Amino acid sequence: MSPEPRPDPWLFDLWSRFYDAPWVQRLTYRPVQDAVLAELRAGGATRVLDVGCGTGLLTRRIAREPGVEAVVGCDFSTGMLRRAAHNAPGLLLARGDALQLPFASGRFDAVVSTEAFHWFPDPDAALAEFHRVLAPHGRLLVALVNPRAEWLSGATRTLSRWLGEPLRWPTRDRLRARVEKAGFRVESQRAVFRLPAPWVFPCVLTAAERPG
Ligand SMILES: C[S@@+](CC[C@H](N)C(=O)[O-])C[C@H]1O[C@@H](n2cnc3c(N)ncnc32)[C@H](O)[C@@H]1O
Repeated sequence: MSPEPRPDPWLFDLWSRFYDAPWVQRLTYRPVQDAVLAELRAGGATRVLDVGCGTGLLTRRIAREPGVEAVVGCDFSTGMLRRAAHNAPGLLLARGDALQLPFASGRFDAVVSTEAFHWFPDPDAALAEFHRVLAPHGRLLVALVNPRAEWLSGATRTLSRWLGEPLRWPTRDRLRARVEKAGFRVESQRAVFRLPAPWVFPCVLTAAERPG
């Protein structure tokens, strides 16, 4: 069997140069981060891992949350990590692949991943890693585009493969099924309004718990 095609970090190294532009953040990424922070506050997490942390803007905001003792941002792009270190000197950052996280089992009580999960070439392996590094009753908060229909999910997958940077946007139901198959209990799934195309390609925040 041929290995799953995976995105190349060069795209993200390049993207890291524009990523922090205020209009990009305000219209696209910040609303999702706000939703994740609200969920984290409600759950009272103290040790948090941000997978696919990009330039670390959410990681830095989590670090400032009352009650959070430690937060680590993890990404496979050196460009993104360099920018994250520049944005917030002292932030704990690790270079690592979501499919093989460089952390001990049970180390965190929350794993968050915003706008990154669709890039992971083996979503089940990534979910297994999230499950492994979470302590019992730890929470998973994963936010990404969940297209409204299967055919949209398939079409974006085909197009992205053709462009050489394969991504997978699952429908909300498919993601729920995957998260449950990985051993989590799904608590909620809610759309977060952000641009672009919020009606056809809504970003959905899925909150789940690793049972005890
Ligand atoms: C669109 S950015 C999201 C960044 C940040 N979470 C946010 O919401 O602003 C996607 C990030 O996922 C990272 N990424 C993609 N595939 C990855 C993998 N297999 N392991 C770790 N990080 C990955 C990219 O380098 C990029 O920084």
